[in-house]
Amino acid sequence: MCGIIGYIGPRNASEIVVEGLKKLEYRGYDSFGFAVRANPDIKILKRVGKIGSVTVQELGLPNSNLAIGHTRWATHGSVTEINTHPHISQDEKIIVVHNGIIENFQAQKKFLESQGLAFYSQTDTEIIPKTIEYHMKRGYDFVEACKHSLKHLEGQYAIVALHKDENKLVAIRKEAPLVIGVGEGEFFVASDVPAFLEYTKKVIFLDEMDLAVIDKNISVFNLTKNSFVDRTITNIDWNAEQARKGEFDHFFMKEVYEQANTLERVANIDETLIKEVAGEIRKSEGIFFVACGTASYACMHGVYTFAKIAKMHINFCLAHEFPNFKHFLNNKSLVIALSQSGETADTLTAIRAAKAAGAKTISITNAMGSSLMRESDKTILARAGPEICVLSTKAYTSQLAILTLLAYELAGKLDEGKEKLKEVVRYIYYLTSEHTRKFIQEIAKNLRYAQHIYLIGRGLQYPTALEATLKIKEVSYIHAEGFAGGELKHGVIALIEHGTPCIVFTSTENEKEIISNAMELKARGGYIIGVGPNNNPVFDVWIKVRESEEANSICQIIPMQILAYQLAMLRGCDPDKPRNLAKSVTVK
Ligand code: G6P
Repeated sequence: MCGIIGYIGPRNASEIVVEGLKKLEYRGYDSFGFAVRANPDIKILKRVGKIGSVTVQELGLPNSNLAIGHTRWATHGSVTEINTHPHISQDEKIIVVHNGIIENFQAQKKFLESQGLAFYSQTDTEIIPKTIEYHMKRGYDFVEACKHSLKHLEGQYAIVALHKDENKLVAIRKEAPLVIGVGEGEFFVASDVPAFLEYTKKVIFLDEMDLAVIDKNISVFNLTKNSFVDRTITNIDWNAEQARKGEFDHFFMKEVYEQANTLERVANIDETLIKEVAGEIRKSEGIFFVACGTASYACMHGVYTFAKIAKMHINFCLAHEFPNFKHFLNNKSLVIALSQSGETADTLTAIRAAKAAGAKTISITNAMGSSLMRESDKTILARAGPEICVLSTKAYTSQLAILTLLAYELAGKLDEGKEKLKEVVRYIYYLTSEHTRKFIQEIAKNLRYAQHIYLIGRGLQYPTALEATLKIKEVSYIHAEGFAGGELKHGVIALIEHGTPCIVFTSTENEKEIISNAMELKARGGYIIGVGPNNNPVFDVWIKVRESEEANSICQIIPMQILAYQLAMLRGCDPDKPRNLAKSVTVK
């Protein structure tokens, strides 16, 4: 939800923040803006819309050694140039970009107005430079004024601030992601690593309430401890190539295609960690999976897989609904949170509630150094590499694979689980091949004008139906709904008319039952698309996905990801940046 970037060093800062912001656009793309310090002036530029492929030259930004940038996903105030970041103080000396929400902005705005400061935008952000300005007027220098300001800013935020007369950046983190890239005599600061991965893999993950002052060096002051702190440099094992589209037109298809590799990485995961986490699961009483969006469907897969393979019951709860159940937690409970970004506000709240109740916490996340990773007792990294497309694809299948391995380990059959995954990896090369992509494109042509698509599955295929539904809705804007096959007769069937597209996920385990459901749909005029190991006369079209038992969820979602992509293309939608969505939802 909003992406921020800053650079200080010998390269052209304008170039770095413009190119870096393109890598953060998945976090929001309503509008974008920059502030470039070209001593003695500051050039501020704001634009409504997506940054696209615009260059630093086209934007007319000057050469500089210090700049900041922001891509916005509007929360407070509509999408206008005035509301676009950066925001500035009244004396036009303090410039700020911000990700998050200042919860007390109305009260703070009133106070600042009473002190003679006037406001030009509807954003909560504008109170930040003005609060700093207020403290500078009271005699503090820029950095001290930033520290004092934080005491008056409630909410969750990551902030990068600069002062017109000072060659430094101030970076502040409070419950919103902010990471510093450390180069040779240069520093980057950004909401996420891909923004500067071209230049360095050395990073410092700021902690809660850290305020970093960055000039030729970096010093980090922690406001909770009220003292300077040492933050270690971590080496990221991602590479710049992973954050580029390469030969693909969109990150979406690139990331779908990468799944054979990302799953192979999971298949070769460090066994010790899987065993340790399984050990925690074994000794816990009362276990919850929590997550939002796509990760929540991975949790549902986990519930089925753990029941089937490990013969264990795990509760599942959408992270934002978790407060209703937190009174069940005690020091024997375990909460397992899944999140691609590791920054989803609701998921973090769930983890915090678990900790407050004395429960153990485990996370499965794709983002090293994320808040979720730092706040949970143990983490399994999803190893999917940077996922840039707003829709989650490869991180989802990595989560499925990790949960599958855990279930096998709990059943005392980790080697079997690993073998199964390796077998799936070979098959995924076929599922993502050009042949499959072309075949699915033809199916998409038949569905492109559909108003509704219904998807059904039973058992492990039920979460797949839900996740496939989400993919189609998010990116093609066609209304889709997923159901458990058995639920059809209880209402849904009333919606089926002549020609209504229905996607039916099958497996040999429940073939008879799900084919009966397909027949019921067909009898009402449904156009049936079967996805599974065997063809059947009830299908109008069949997408063959060979039987992979417990790994069916991994294999069957892939043609659906491709279908969603093809539908988006045929309908003229942007597959990487669907309207109204942000990849990382850092507000509740
Ligand atoms: C947003 C994204 C979804 C994602 C969900 C959870 O809604 O648009 O694609 O699944 O957040 O994100 P997380 O990073 O926690 O997996």
